Amino acid sequence: MDSAIWTEKYRPSTFEEIKGQKEIVEKVKAFVASKNLPHLLFSGPAGVGKTTLSLVIAKQLFGEHWKENTLELNASDERGIDVVRVKVKDFARTKAIGEVPFKLIYLDECDALTKEAQQALRRTMENYTKTARFILSCNYSSKILDPIQSRCAVFRFKPLSKEEIFTVIENIAKQEGGEINQALSAEVKDALHTVSEGDVRRVTNILQSCFTVKKEGEHLEAKDIYSMASAARPKEVQEILQRAFSGKFVESRKLLLDTMLNYGMSGVDVLKQIQKEIWNLQIDDRKKVELVDKCGEIEFRMVEGSDEYLQLESFLAFIALVGKK
Ligand SMILES: Nc1ncnc2c1ncn2[C@@H]1O[C@H](COP(=O)(O)OP(=O)(O)O)[C@@H](O)[C@H]1O
Ligand SMILES: [Mg+2]
Repeated sequence: MDSAIWTEKYRPSTFEEIKGQKEIVEKVKAFVASKNLPHLLFSGPAGVGKTTLSLVIAKQLFGEHWKENTLELNASDERGIDVVRVKVKDFARTKAIGEVPFKLIYLDECDALTKEAQQALRRTMENYTKTARFILSCNYSSKILDPIQSRCAVFRFKPLSKEEIFTVIENIAKQEGGEINQALSAEVKDALHTVSEGDVRRVTNILQSCFTVKKEGEHLEAKDIYSMASAARPKEVQEILQRAFSGKFVESRKLLLDTMLNYGMSGVDVLKQIQKEIWNLQIDDRKKVELVDKCGEIEFRMVEGSDEYLQLESFLAFIALVGKK
C-alpha cells in the first residue's frame, strides 16, 4: 500500500464523483455551465463535501488556471478579519486569468468569525463583487449574519446516507484492490457506516487506519472498526442499558467499565453512544425522554470537569431507578 492519505487521494475532482448532495450539485453545475456564479454559502457538518465541491467549482470554471484564480482561506486560522481583508485585497486586485471575469475566494469556517469580523467581511464582499466571488463555508448558517446570507445562494449539506457511505468505501476498496477489496464484509461495512455518522472524511480515515495497523493475512472485523473509532459496538451498549434498566446495576457497571477499557473510550464518547442507543430500547417513550434528558445533564457535568466514572455510575443508577418505576 502506498503512503498517500486516502482523503486526498480519493477526493472527487468532478461533479459526478461527489456522492449525495444531489440538488446542490445540480444547481452549482448549472451556475458553472453559465460561467457565472453568485456568492455561495455552504453550511453543514464536517466531511460531507463543502470544500470538495468548492474545489470542483474552481477546477471546472478555470480549467488549467484554477490555482492562480482561487484563494483558499480558513477564517479561524487567519489572525483576525484584517488578515483576511489584506489577503483578499491583494488577490482580487488583479484580473482573473482566462475567460471567466472573476476570481474565486473560498473562506472556510466562517462561523468562527465574530459579528464585527462578519460585518467587515460583508463590506469586503461588496467591494470586490466585480472581480471576485466568495464561497463561504460554515457548520451552522444561523451563526452567519443575515446581510451576508442574503447576499449568497445558501446551500445546506447533509450527512451522507448509508448507501452513499457504502458507495464511497466500495469505490476506495475497488481502487486499492487486493486484500482491502476482499475485507469489506457486510458486517464491516455496517460498522463503518455506524461510526461514520455520515462523515466521509471520518469513515475514510478509519478505514485507512485499520489497514495500516492490520497485519497481512489478518481478518478485518467489525470490532476492529469500532475499536479504531473508539466506539463500542451498539450491541454492547444495548446490553449495558438493558441490564441497568432491569435493575442489574453491578453487572451493568462491570460491562460498562470493560467496554470503556476495551475500546479506550472517554466518558463523553460512551455517553454519546448511550444517548443514541436509548432510542432503540424497548421501553416506554416517556421513560426514553427522561433518560435522554438526564444524559444532557450528565454530559454537562463531565464537560465541566466532574469525574467521568462517577458520573456514568450515577447515570446507570438513575436508569435502574427509572426501570423500577
Ligand atoms: N459528498 C462526498 N462524496 C465523495 N467524497 C466526499 C464527499 N464529501 C466528502 N468527501 C471526502 O471526504 C473528505 C473531506 O471532504 P471535505 O469536502 O473536505 O469536507 P467538508 O464538508 O468538511 O469541507 C474528502 O477527502 C472528500 O474526498
Ligand atoms: Mg472543509
